[in-house]
Amino acid sequence: MTSTVITGIGELTTNDDELGKLAGAALVVEDERIAWAGPAAEAPAADERVDVEGRAVLPGWVDSHTHLVFAGDRTAEFAARMDGKPYEAGGIAVTVEATRAATDAELAANLRRHVAEAAAQGTTCVETKTGYGLTVADELRSARIAAAEADEVTFLGAHLVSPGADADSYVDLVCGEMLDAVVPHVGWCDVFCERGAFDTEQSRRVLKAAAERGLGLRVHGNQLGTGPGVGLAVELGAASVDHCTYLDQSDVDALAGSDTVATLLPACDLSTRQPLPDARALLDAGATVALASNCNPGSSYTSSMAYCVTTAVLQMRMTVDEAIRAATWGGARALRREAGDGAVGVLRVGARADIHVLDAPSTAWLAYRPGVPLTHTVWRKGVRIAG
Ligand code: NIG
Repeated sequence: MTSTVITGIGELTTNDDELGKLAGAALVVEDERIAWAGPAAEAPAADERVDVEGRAVLPGWVDSHTHLVFAGDRTAEFAARMDGKPYEAGGIAVTVEATRAATDAELAANLRRHVAEAAAQGTTCVETKTGYGLTVADELRSARIAAAEADEVTFLGAHLVSPGADADSYVDLVCGEMLDAVVPHVGWCDVFCERGAFDTEQSRRVLKAAAERGLGLRVHGNQLGTGPGVGLAVELGAASVDHCTYLDQSDVDALAGSDTVATLLPACDLSTRQPLPDARALLDAGATVALASNCNPGSSYTSSMAYCVTTAVLQMRMTVDEAIRAATWGGARALRREAGDGAVGVLRVGARADIHVLDAPSTAWLAYRPGVPLTHTVWRKGVRIAG
């Protein structure tokens, strides 16, 4: 077992209730885990020593919402949107066609490229979804490919009714043969509960069928207007409801009284010219908030969690500490990985050694210096992967 002491930490964000935020701190990494965290003066000896010279250190980003099993791009759709055309769920079909036409090797290479791009920016835990296949064979290969690269995989057969299919027959397929095929490769099931995609009853059927097979639940909801997504997610005990762009007071109250995380995707709202979600109302009511990139070729083609944090602080009235927590611990909570041995989104003894060093003295610089790349060094599972 080799150990490394990371010392000279100017500001250490741990997300641990007891450790809190420390100045003049050190961390000790042993293999994949954090073995010690505390004041630098008390740090135990280790085989190797890395001095980060006063920089800020935080847990690696936990990106709890991406769609990275895809082929092609949608530049033309983006350009049309910037000319005033509204975003609609139907654009997904363009990526479905390109994804079906791609080979397994092409899909895997594209996924790896995006995961590597995110890692170079400090993302150390990634969830990704199927949802651009929409046939049993294409969803199954998407799930297999995702499982080889991502920390968490979500089945999103109910992303859009497969082009040309009858909606009810397609929901039957998703709830039966498709779920049975993908279950060995995924931990979660999601549904796009929105006009133009799946209605409340169709969404409930899919989620219940998934829960019966032991999958955790997530919901895409309230992205394009107020609607039933949040209520359904809370009703079924989903770990997370993602987007939450349009919420009424009953949605905020329901989230605040539940264990369902409100995962906000501000890069998507900006790219689709939607309003930004009311993070302040959610936080003030006591809801748990996560921030994620929603990296996908249609509605949000960025892997930058820093951009999400910057937007949350500058435009969504989140404090720096709230935004950092939402992009690390919040994402981990949305994936139910924030506690126990090997936890992510937190730096405490026993947590996964996923460490993000900023080329800045404090996390405030992520908003203070917007758009400037501030990732200095990244360790994932105790291995230095950037910097
Ligand atoms: O989270 N809302 C549904 N799914 C994706 C969009 C996918 C696409 O447009 O290709 C999202 O925004």
